[in-house]
Amino acid sequence: MKIITFGDEKLRLKAEKIDTIDEEIIAVAKEMLELIKRDKGVGVAGPQVGFMKRIFVIHIEGDEKRVFINPSLLETSVETTKYEEGCLSVPGIYVNVVRSESIKIQAWNIKGRPFTLEASGLLARVIQHEYDHLEGVLFLDHLNDKKREKLIEKFEKAQKK
Ligand code: NI
Repeated sequence: MKIITFGDEKLRLKAEKIDTIDEEIIAVAKEMLELIKRDKGVGVAGPQVGFMKRIFVIHIEGDEKRVFINPSLLETSVETTKYEEGCLSVPGIYVNVVRSESIKIQAWNIKGRPFTLEASGLLARVIQHEYDHLEGVLFLDHLNDKKREKLIEKFEKAQKK
């Protein structure tokens, strides 16, 4: 399992609903959790590993490992916060992104059970970041054009080295 990086069209596609939470999905989720541990990330979404399904996993230090299958963002707070974000698919780029302070999400876990979660702070931020990946949206898309272009340029220059 390998991370695909900015420039790959797969990062811009909408991921598809998962029909059955079977052995394959469980194996993929476990491998994704291994990957974020190895690459020192806090979360990864299916499209980032070329798996175009609606799944993402999150593991924030000090928190449990979390798997979200077919997630729906039910609520996003009007209140926002700004915090520095990075993305395994855009290595080397870190930038402040404005997001909702708290969210409510519904999804299925690795055991195939539905759950609803209310989150705030870092977990809410990471959930929004990973959810975006399922829609083909990247953290850079939340910036103004000028800032985004500048960072893309920086990223592309670094990739050529
Ligand atoms: Ni990301």
